[in-house]
Amino acid sequence: MQKVKVRSGIELVIVENEAEFAKAAADKVSELLKQKPNAILGLPTGSTPETMYAELVSRYKAGLLDFSQVTTFNLDEYVGLSDTHPQSYHSFMKKHLFDGVNIPSEARHLPSGETKPAEESAAAYEALLTKLGPIDLMILGIGTNGHIGFNEPGTPFDSRVHITSLAPSTIQANSRFFSDESEVPREAVTTGIGNILEARQIMLLAKGESKAEAIAATLQGEVTIEVPASALQQHNSVYVVVDKAAASLLKLE
Ligand code: F6R
Repeated sequence: MQKVKVRSGIELVIVENEAEFAKAAADKVSELLKQKPNAILGLPTGSTPETMYAELVSRYKAGLLDFSQVTTFNLDEYVGLSDTHPQSYHSFMKKHLFDGVNIPSEARHLPSGETKPAEESAAAYEALLTKLGPIDLMILGIGTNGHIGFNEPGTPFDSRVHITSLAPSTIQANSRFFSDESEVPREAVTTGIGNILEARQIMLLAKGESKAEAIAATLQGEVTIEVPASALQQHNSVYVVVDKAAASLLKLE
């Protein structure tokens, strides 16, 4: 594992393998919960955090972690999927984290994909975040196009919780979870970049060659709304965990 200071406010950890990836990410959460047992966590779904969640569950089962005072806010949810749909982010979280640890059910928050009109779901989530926030540690994955949450290229950095249309590349990437691309919802409720930047600390996770360009543009490129994750350069406490493939286009001394 290699630690590199990319720029002020951004610490980068490059790991050798999947086990190190899961450990580095879970260590960050564990450290926070030791200092602040009632921390508020911002959580992503997707393939990237799966092993981190598995590691957190195993630490909980081993008696090393306690989530009884933790509150969580997920980043996003597809519009039009019921909470119980197998590909909903509600179902993902239940399977990968909530069923395995002791976060009280009333302290787990995700935007609703069922509320109609969807804008009401966004407004309700924004109100809840404002009431209970700020988030202590916002954990993020990243899209190949640089999206964070479902803030696709072109999203203003001061955006709040909103309904967004998924970019064609996101629909294509996420079609691997559905039997056909036509079944991937076209819209999502997402936490905005403005909400993300309000978190006290941010942890960005990426692995694989397909994320290398996005990671280089995020950490060493121009700060531009065309690369939503480049907004993180404006934050003062960002911890980035990447594997070697995702780090391969970074210019490191
Ligand atoms: C998911 C989310 C997305 C994903 C991103 C990467 O809640 O907010 O931004 O983090 O699309 O997804 P994976 O990890 O599947 O490559």
